[in-house]
Amino acid sequence: MGRSNYELGALALIISILTVAASAGSFHDDIDITFGGERAKILNGGQDLSLSLDQYSGAGFQSKHEYLFGRFDMQLKLVPGNSAGTVTTFYLSSKGAGHDEIDFEFLGNSTGNPYTIHTNVYSQGKGDKEQQFHLWFDPTAAFHTYTIVWNNQRIIFLIDNIPVRVFHNNDAAGVPFPKSQPMRVYASLWNADDWATQGGRVKTDWTKAPFTASYRKFNVNGNRVGLNSFSTTSENKNQAWATQDIDATGRNRIRWVQTKHMIYNYCNDRKRFPNGLSAECKRSRFL
Ligand SMILES: *[C@@H]1O[C@H](CO)[C@@H](O)[C@H](O)[C@H]1NC(C)=O
Repeated sequence: MGRSNYELGALALIISILTVAASAGSFHDDIDITFGGERAKILNGGQDLSLSLDQYSGAGFQSKHEYLFGRFDMQLKLVPGNSAGTVTTFYLSSKGAGHDEIDFEFLGNSTGNPYTIHTNVYSQGKGDKEQQFHLWFDPTAAFHTYTIVWNNQRIIFLIDNIPVRVFHNNDAAGVPFPKSQPMRVYASLWNADDWATQGGRVKTDWTKAPFTASYRKFNVNGNRVGLNSFSTTSENKNQAWATQDIDATGRNRIRWVQTKHMIYNYCNDRKRFPNGLSAECKRSRFL
């Protein structure tokens, strides 16, 4: 089954992936601001980034590079106080029709009420795979680490290194899995008071604007799609993400999160999917 040199060359040429080493990057080097102008601010010599939202606009940024698989870490401190109607995001997405996407979205709430952590996976343009959680800490009081691990077997969502969700590659059962479209990292803060908080019943209180969310320690270990590179390097020593799975400890933790902190699971929503749940939902409840 050996591939010819020609095939290998063509593969390298088409994909031209560069495996990149983890670096304590600077936002100056790693991202471009995509909207909001002055509402997106890189601070502290590139170590910190803040996004703000007012009545006129939110703000957002994207990674300069695209990746095909990897581990993506970001620390976030969410909008404090009355954050109802605001949505803060950290997600991966490919471009164009039939896109793939892996989402963390943080839906704000009125003072004293919990944020909702919304996760979803889109493959070839189709989503409908939401799981939502409440957190076991106040995400506005300090920075916490939110991580997406994406390899060719599974997608793992982690919060402070605790797995909260795993989405397995069930290609064999006919469930499309994101595996061939490179994705960029995106983050944003925007107004979604038509649906975000308690189904749109609680509106954004603009007298409290501007609302601000903070990001830091953006870190990627992954396969970077090289723009003009025709060779593959393997300078990245830490490729644990490429085979990362849920071990026994992880299984206990994900069970705890999903039992105590999960508030919505598309795999339990037979009313929404009267023609049957998606094939991956047939696995055991947690994995
Ligand atoms: C807001 O708080 C209410 C009441 O605790 C809760 O039901 C809801 O899930 C919270 N989150 C959002 C985004 O509405």
